[in-house]
Amino acid sequence: MIRIGIAGMGFMGQQHFAIYQGLDNVEVVAVCDKNPTKIAEAAPSIGGNIGEATELDLSAQARYVCFDDMLAKEELDCVDVCVPTHLHAELAVAALEAGCHAISEKPMARTLEDCDQMVAVAEATGRMLFIAQCIRFWPEYEVLADMVSSGELGRLAAAKFTRQSPPPTWAEDGWLLDPGLSGGAMLDLHIHDVDFILSLLGKPPAVLSQAANLFSEGKKVDHVVTSFLYDDFVCVAEGGWAMPTAFPFEMGFQVLGEKGLLDFSLGKQPMLTFYPSDGEPYSPEVAAGTGYERELAYFVECMENDHPPERVTAQSARESVAVVMAEQQSAQTGEVVQLD
Ligand SMILES: NC(=O)c1ccc[n+]([C@@H]2O[C@H](COP(=O)([O-])OP(=O)(O)OC[C@H]3O[C@@H](n4cnc5c(N)ncnc54)[C@H](O)[C@@H]3O)[C@@H](O)[C@H]2O)c1
Repeated sequence: MIRIGIAGMGFMGQQHFAIYQGLDNVEVVAVCDKNPTKIAEAAPSIGGNIGEATELDLSAQARYVCFDDMLAKEELDCVDVCVPTHLHAELAVAALEAGCHAISEKPMARTLEDCDQMVAVAEATGRMLFIAQCIRFWPEYEVLADMVSSGELGRLAAAKFTRQSPPPTWAEDGWLLDPGLSGGAMLDLHIHDVDFILSLLGKPPAVLSQAANLFSEGKKVDHVVTSFLYDDFVCVAEGGWAMPTAFPFEMGFQVLGEKGLLDFSLGKQPMLTFYPSDGEPYSPEVAAGTGYERELAYFVECMENDHPPERVTAQSARESVAVVMAEQQSAQTGEVVQLD
């Protein structure tokens, strides 16, 4: 039985808590949040952009307002870091140094220096560090990855990814809307597609981004369109969280190859359709569950088998942060940014 402590019981911590309840081989023995109402025995539930608001019964868990206390007093196998992004590195590093495995929510960290420290400490301690890049485990995106790697789509011509949301107003103290803490929509939301694109297609030689702000001050981070400048095909991703509040959260893709088009949108019914270049469209089968459920089940299995996670390495998650930083540079300067 893997003993887990969750740090940060906001939207994502609550999602993870609910998922662990459904897994056999794991027990959440402790939870921690600096806000005492979030770790009350019956904590109020929080809705975010994906996933239902969850009713929480925390009566069976040890509950802490101080992270260091949780780390010192509990015998944990793993700490699940669901605090705001600018704190990921500090808590994950402390957990690794205390001998625990660590999960960190995406994006890996607010800066590349923080990412590098996390990688270095994981290597030095020999503990596993898993970054929760859930889209790599999202069933419809897994279908796409399979169809590309198996050659079912054939040679690619064009790939387009979309992720658009109303502003994330649920966050404690409004930290998500402060680009200094969250990195804005580019680092927080759009990184899902960046990370998936890199895992699917490899790192492009360069990026060209345009971005705009509707409510953030300073650097343009609220809405971005990036061209990933691969040599042989077109690849574009659009992401932002400046949509009107009534706009339903949307994520999707259209990937066109010589053998057909795979089309996915949360807003369509059916959501996933393959249009063969020759023949009738159909909906490919998708695995059950969400990327959140599947990523945690995967990492619990890694810990149980003492097998480092290969589907998302910390280094690859760090690479996704680096590409977003390059996109930010491109958006501010209007120039193509080469990736090394
Ligand atoms: N994978 C996804 O699709 C997804 C979706 C939403 C959020 N996230 C990520 O999850 C992380 C958390 O986001 P959220 O939406 O849950 O935010 P949130 O504001 O709802 O929750 C963060 C919680 O951390 C607590 N906290 C802050 N500092 C703390 C500290 N030092 N010790 C203990 N608790 C502390 C806050 O009180 C709050 O309850 C972010 O990195 C975000 O990018 C991922």
